[in-house]
Amino acid sequence: MESKHLIGLENISKNDIDEFIETGFLFREVLDRPIKRVPSLTGKNIVNLFFENSTRTKISFELAEKRLSADIINFSSSSSSVKKGESLKDTIQNIHAMKIDCVVMRHPIPGSSIQLTNYVDSVIVNAGDGTHEHPTQALLDMMSLKEHFGKIKDLKIGIIGDILHSRVALSNIFGLVKLGAKVKVCGPPHLIQKDIKDLNVEVEYDVDNLIDWADAINVLRIQRERMGVGIIPSVREYRRFFGITSQRLANHKKNIVVMHPGPINRGVEIDSSVADSDQAIILDQVLNGVAVRMSVLYLLLGNNDLK
Ligand code: CP
Repeated sequence: MESKHLIGLENISKNDIDEFIETGFLFREVLDRPIKRVPSLTGKNIVNLFFENSTRTKISFELAEKRLSADIINFSSSSSSVKKGESLKDTIQNIHAMKIDCVVMRHPIPGSSIQLTNYVDSVIVNAGDGTHEHPTQALLDMMSLKEHFGKIKDLKIGIIGDILHSRVALSNIFGLVKLGAKVKVCGPPHLIQKDIKDLNVEVEYDVDNLIDWADAINVLRIQRERMGVGIIPSVREYRRFFGITSQRLANHKKNIVVMHPGPINRGVEIDSSVADSDQAIILDQVLNGVAVRMSVLYLLLGNNDLK
């Protein structure tokens, strides 16, 4: 590994991304065993710091750490001294004084994970920092694409939704482009960065054109908390222009692969009938999330055989 931490996919090498994904497949095999546990991180201490809500990422990291036999501590800001005004720096330095090997952190502020590397010398894994990056989500998305198609290079991937505020979109763009996929983003014009083409992606405003072109689409959650502040004026209008409905997919007569990072707003960005169909690989993404997080923790922290 060239990387010491996993902050994002923007600044890590193609080789490291490949290694995370390929080792993820080895751990996926461990998850299919009757006893789903390896001793690779025995004696390592990992703290999961979640300053923002999470279901999938939090459970997935905890499970990955347990499957690797690490000792884990879960920290939730809502029941901590953060509520009494303690700063991120003091919180981390106090935890670090207890001899922590790795910090997995989700935080609402973009750049908070990189900031953490200045405070402690533990391995830092970003579990989502505001609108910046969500690297393990992109790794699990790419692993799921590789599992389905047998490759990533030259795949045509459409990402649909609020690109501007999405850490999932940004990490996927950095990772997919490095691995040689072709990426188009699609969404309301005011929710796509003006300079997004600088990241070697194309912009398509018509979702039907995107579906015609793509091998797979990654449908982003419409962040309902942003409604009422004028960003998405109407759910009904969004669904009409960008919603992935059964009818819309049927019109294209092609078996496109449908992905979603979760949590899903059923009936808004995607219909239940699509999310629950054979075209959707959403639950494969969730399982691969555990495997790829085992891979990340193992490669950054461990040096034992995969036995
Ligand atoms: N995909 C994802 O990050 O989901 P959570 O917010 O539930 O962790």
